[in-house]
Amino acid sequence: MKIHFAVCRPDWMISVSIALCLFLFPPIQINAQSAFGAVPPSGAEGATAKDPVQQPWKNALLFPQQRADLLLKQMTLDEKITMVHGVDPMPLKGYVGYVPPNPRLGIPALRLADGRAAVGNGAHDITLLPAPIAAASGWDIEVMNAFGRILGQEQWIKGTNVALGPSIDVVRVPEWGRTFESYGEDPYFNGRMAVAEIKGIQSQGPIADANMYLTMNQESNRMTEDSRLDERTLQEIYLPPFAAAVEEGHVGTFMCAYVKTNGVYSCENEYLLNDVLRKQLKFDGWVMSDWGATHSTVDAANHGLDQQMPGAEFFGDKLKADVTSGQVSLDILNSHVRNILVPMFRQGLFDKQQTGSWSASARNAEHDAFSRMAAEQGTVLLKNDGGILPLPVTASIAVIGAAGSTSPKMEGGGSSQANAPYVVSPLDGIRKRLGAETMVSSADGSDLNVAASVARSADIAVVFVQTDETEGEDRPNLELPRNQNALIAAVAAAGKKTIVVLDTGGPVLMPWVDQVAGVIEAWYPGQEDGNAIAAILYGDVNPSAKLPMTFPRTAVEIPTSQQEQWPGVDGRSLYSEGLDVGYRWYDKMDVQPLFPFGFGLSYTTFKLSHLVVEPAKSSSPSGSTSTEVLVSVEVTNTGHRKGAEVVQIYVAHPAANGEPPHQLRAFAKVQLKPGETKTVRLALDAQSFSTYDPAAHQWTHRAGSYEILAGTSSRDLPLHKSIAIQ
Ligand code: BGC
Repeated sequence: MKIHFAVCRPDWMISVSIALCLFLFPPIQINAQSAFGAVPPSGAEGATAKDPVQQPWKNALLFPQQRADLLLKQMTLDEKITMVHGVDPMPLKGYVGYVPPNPRLGIPALRLADGRAAVGNGAHDITLLPAPIAAASGWDIEVMNAFGRILGQEQWIKGTNVALGPSIDVVRVPEWGRTFESYGEDPYFNGRMAVAEIKGIQSQGPIADANMYLTMNQESNRMTEDSRLDERTLQEIYLPPFAAAVEEGHVGTFMCAYVKTNGVYSCENEYLLNDVLRKQLKFDGWVMSDWGATHSTVDAANHGLDQQMPGAEFFGDKLKADVTSGQVSLDILNSHVRNILVPMFRQGLFDKQQTGSWSASARNAEHDAFSRMAAEQGTVLLKNDGGILPLPVTASIAVIGAAGSTSPKMEGGGSSQANAPYVVSPLDGIRKRLGAETMVSSADGSDLNVAASVARSADIAVVFVQTDETEGEDRPNLELPRNQNALIAAVAAAGKKTIVVLDTGGPVLMPWVDQVAGVIEAWYPGQEDGNAIAAILYGDVNPSAKLPMTFPRTAVEIPTSQQEQWPGVDGRSLYSEGLDVGYRWYDKMDVQPLFPFGFGLSYTTFKLSHLVVEPAKSSSPSGSTSTEVLVSVEVTNTGHRKGAEVVQIYVAHPAANGEPPHQLRAFAKVQLKPGETKTVRLALDAQSFSTYDPAAHQWTHRAGSYEILAGTSSRDLPLHKSIAIQ
């Protein structure tokens, strides 16, 4: 891939001689090779043969904004209208959204495709990665960035130039049907993961799309649901991942959501689109509507929606008429078109040709290997009584449950569903790992007596259970469906050591937890399901993942247990838990969860010590934030295997600030050999010491004495130090 670094892009450049500037400051070209193979060659798609003198917006040395303005001046009203909506029915196979090219002006087509864990919309020859919640459970920014790079590269090879993803909403309701598409329940954590994935996607060619904006926290009544919440909660809990996507991820597009926020549909919500996204976050890309989430022409256009998807009902002829009559000003239409053009220019869509096509094969062996690695790194060991795991390879094993053999559960449903090139079932993965010497038996779990007798005949029983999470519906509750609780109980009662592997997209209740020796959360692990779980079960890989969500003990203890909160009453969901989302609520109410946020075991042990907290000497900007406090902590591998620990730093505000008890503000994953000690250094930014002031409509830095807590889960924070913030 050729990256052009222009050193000659001042605003005055248009008015002086471009040629002189070019002569003085020739562009530097760097040949960048993707970590996962070469990306397709470049050229100018949809371009005419006109050179930059005739079509000055073709000059890649200008700022994207300058190029957009130059092009905008040449566009007719019809050409502008064409850019602000999709074509429905879709004329091309393999994409879910399409804006045709403009050969007169050399504007490339936009081809949009879904892709949360793989290229979707029916594509073949793609890599099915683990669900985003699984990848995020590795708590490893590098892994999430590589996840995005693979998605971006496969999308680009498939001809996509706008990749729909990532889904970055904070999980408010554990039953939410799209939990598996998200990263978890913490705003800061989701922000870190979003930035890593977006940068990965956009490094490979396509423009990424942060979705779904905003308060898209349930599937129940999703086309009309009204999320009712206060401004502070919106700003402190639900907005931060999207703010990070803009400020640090430089994401090109946003997808506004189906739901309403405080009575107004997301895609015509002036507060969300104009006030927050444009004025507060300074977003200069475009907002497209979720598929069918546009409800008006004038309100949507005037309140900040740039592009209707997938069709033209509101932003086609109706918008043209409303612009002609003056109900929507030409300035507003121009700003929508500019918002679309700017990220297209920034991402180089005018400067390189995408030779990829929907029928091209995007897979390769490195992507398969990454899929397995990400699944292994995302598998959380929740319980390991008496060190039953890792299993001895000599012990005979019974693999029980449909998810273990006949129907492995490797992905969630809905628009993120993709065609796995292959799936390694847990039974096949375990057989391959053990070879012919060790007896491996199986039962699909449809008959409890058969399952119990197969379990009795082996030394160890591993029960694979699954949930059926999908876009479009929430789970009715957190119970395992289809009698799987009874299956686990029957196997455990057979008297052999039992391990439960959860292939779920979110938390489940575990009434059997005390009857089993081991519990593993493998999530929806993608195509390498069986290889990844075999590597964990037999200790080839030492588990190092941590839950990005709280797992509750009972249904009544979850933060959104009241009907008025979820699924809502009379079409409204009251966010009455306010800031106390996820672990914040359990901590505030002093409720012990079954497995807390941030929790996950290893086959080795770690100890944290020597927490040092000090003010940063000078404010060092990073992205839009600045470092305020430096934290260091030592972590030692006190066991006998190499392994990785995630050091987690939480901040407790002074009580008067009205914040939840403590909140994640930094983390780092560190690899350690047995006996090894490393010092982890982390920075806390100014926002860690700020709250949102709804009266002033802004974030306010708050002086006072703060507690900095360090540990390995939200409920295991052995080290703490106070620091006075001025
Ligand atoms: C989903 C989006 C998706 C779109 C196109 C909608 O139903 O909410 O996430 O990108 O469909 O498939």
